[in-house]
Parts: sequence; C-alpha cells; structure tokens
Amino acid sequence: MTLNNRQWLINGRPLGRGLVDDDFRFVESPVRPPGEAEVLVRVLTLGFDPAQKGWMENIGGYVAPTEIGEVMRGSGVGEVLESNDPAFKPGDKVSGMLRWQDYATLPGKELLKLADDDLLTANLGALGTTGMTAYFGLAKHGRPFPGDTMVVTGAAGATGSVVGQIGKIAGCRVIGIAGGAEKCAWLKTVCGFDEAIDYKAENVRGRIRELAPGGIDVLWDNVGGKLLNDLLAEIAMHARVVICGGISRYETGQLPAGPEHYFNLIFKRATMSGFIVLDYMSEYPVARRRIGAWIRSGRLKFAEDVQHGLENAPRTLMRLFTGANFGKQLLRIA
Ligand SMILES: NC(=O)c1ccc[n+]([C@@H]2O[C@H](COP(=O)([O-])OP(=O)(O)OC[C@H]3O[C@@H](n4cnc5c(N)ncnc54)[C@H](OP(=O)(O)O)[C@@H]3O)[C@@H](O)[C@H]2O)c1
Repeated sequence: MTLNNRQWLINGRPLGRGLVDDDFRFVESPVRPPGEAEVLVRVLTLGFDPAQKGWMENIGGYVAPTEIGEVMRGSGVGEVLESNDPAFKPGDKVSGMLRWQDYATLPGKELLKLADDDLLTANLGALGTTGMTAYFGLAKHGRPFPGDTMVVTGAAGATGSVVGQIGKIAGCRVIGIAGGAEKCAWLKTVCGFDEAIDYKAENVRGRIRELAPGGIDVLWDNVGGKLLNDLLAEIAMHARVVICGGISRYETGQLPAGPEHYFNLIFKRATMSGFIVLDYMSEYPVARRRIGAWIRSGRLKFAEDVQHGLENAPRTLMRLFTGANFGKQLLRIA
C-alpha cells in the first residue's frame, strides 16, 4: 500500500516581519520508503519553538541553512512503522527532527527511542529541548544559590515556566513576568512562583522595586528589548543575566535600541551571557533523568497547549508570537 504524505514546505523568508500564510506551501506526495539504516515514522505530535522562524530566515548560523522548498523543520514525537535500523522496530515511540509532515523517513541515528508512557509529548517540552534549555542555561549561566531572587521573562511560556520551577528547586525566590492575569495566576498557583507581574497591565520596573528591593540576582531573559533594559536597571551585586532569547525582536525590521542600562553590569560586577542549548547535548541524559524525576514526584509542573491537524501547522507557529500559547505549543497530527 502506498501512503500519501502531506507536507508543509518553506516558501518565504520572514526576515524583519511577522509570519504570513504565504511563507509556507502545502503539498502531497507518496511516502518515501526507508533506505539502508533508515526508519519510517508516523508523526504523532509536533513541537513548536520561536527559533523555527529564525531558521526560516537563516539567521544565527547555529543550524544548517534552510532552503526554500525544503520540508519545514520541526521536532516531533512519532511511532515507527518500518525500520532498516536494528535499533528500532515497528511500534517504537521516537523523537527527532520529524518536520511538518505526516510521515518522516530518516536515518535511525537521528532518532531517540522513548518510553511509551504518559510523558510521551513531554519529550517535546520539559523533557526535550525546552527542558534542556532551562536546565543548562540556569545551571551553567544563571548559577543560582539558595536565597537568590530570580526573575524570569516570558515566564508562562514553555521554557520560562520550567526554568522558574528549577529556580525554586534550587532554593531561589522566583518572580515571573508574563502577559495577562490568567498566565500570572497559573504561575503562582500551579508552578509555585512566588510572585508574577503582568507586563501588559503593570509597571514592571516599579513592581520589581517593590518585590525585589535587594535587586535581581538571576535574570533569565526570553524577551529582550525594553523589558530587558528595565530589568538591567534593577540587578543586584554579582548578578547573572542569562540571555536565553529575545522574542520581542523576532518580528521587527530593526534592532532594538540600547540597552541603556547595560552599564549597571559594571557597577554591580555582574555578568551577562548568552548560550545555545545544543552546546550541552552530550549532557542531556543527566538533565532528562533529573527533570523526569521532578515531574514524577510532582515538583515540576508543565502545561501543554495542544492544537490539532497538520493543516494548521503555520497558524500554530504564529501563536507563539501573539502570546496565544499557554506553556508548550504542540500540534497533534495523528
Ligand atoms: N538559547 C537557546 O538555546 C534557546 C532554546 C530554546 C528557546 N530559546 C528562546 O526561549 C524563548 C522562549 O521560547 P519558548 O519555546 O519557551 O516559547 P514560549 O515562551 O512558549 O512562547 C513564546 C512566548 O513569548 C511571549 N511573547 C511573544 N511576543 C512577545 C513580545 N513581543 N514581548 C514579550 N513577550 C512576548 C508570549 O508570552 P506572553 O503571553 O507572556 O507575552 C509567548 O507565549 C524564546 O525567546 C526562544 O527563542 C532559546
């Protein structure tokens, strides 16, 4: 039986602007059977990350350049249908760069075999690259100490909500900054953040002065722009500023001004460092074990925002840039 494969191809370069429907093209063709050492996987669920837009723009240089006409890159979990790699058999659950399609044919060495349990989709979030980003960014760059005050921007997103909870486990007092009362309430009641600030409705700098009079010891930034600048003015002595992302600039044509308050790094003998999670890949197994144990013991909670249908993949990615997502953005395919 020949299976048909629906695929989304990259059709545009959204540099300096938001994503539009025409940036993607929907096509259908027969599934390619697996060759030597390859595996055929039915895609079950896709995970979404703001970086996917950057990959389409070919900025950053930390992944291979994308081509117009290639199947849109995206991580997913799936089920093995056929395997020419002895490490996999039909029925195995796997994760990898499955891309935006119904079926993926790829080398077995690019897949990770997963436990077939209730945490399957968590491998796209807290147990996947999202969790690895939170864990290694905080451990290697944030270097939290018990009693530290930690502030997280983009706090109710996939990465922000996990890193704030790891900060709590490390003994920090954690303040999250997110858009909207519902997200802020969730951070406090479910994720155990000590405080939450709605950046859309509150004066962030004023609230930080009230909530963290001693300053911010660990500043985890997913947003950049004005928010980062305001927070740099409120750092404590020897603060660690971790630049994880800067989503406020991902749709704009020009670079943001500043940050004017960067000079505070000198006065406060602080550090500001960026990182790419892929650099810690060799250490992922340790972090996966620890995060898995925290999830199973109830110490770490995560939210999944599940949309449905491959045809909705472009619109699902766009949700990240309007703040429509709550926790990890997923799309169920099969
Ligand atoms: N360095 C690395 O290796 C690495 C790895 C993975 C991810 N990242 C970065 O981590 C950040 C979070 O990624 P994620 O996958 O966890 O996505 P996410 O936080 O789940 O989703 C994006 C969130 O960003 C917020 N947002 C969107 N536009 C904004 C704007 N203009 N100003 C302020 N907030 C805005 C929205 O939340 P609100 O409703 O609160 O506005 C939205 O829900 C991104 O910047 C991403 O690029 C970095």
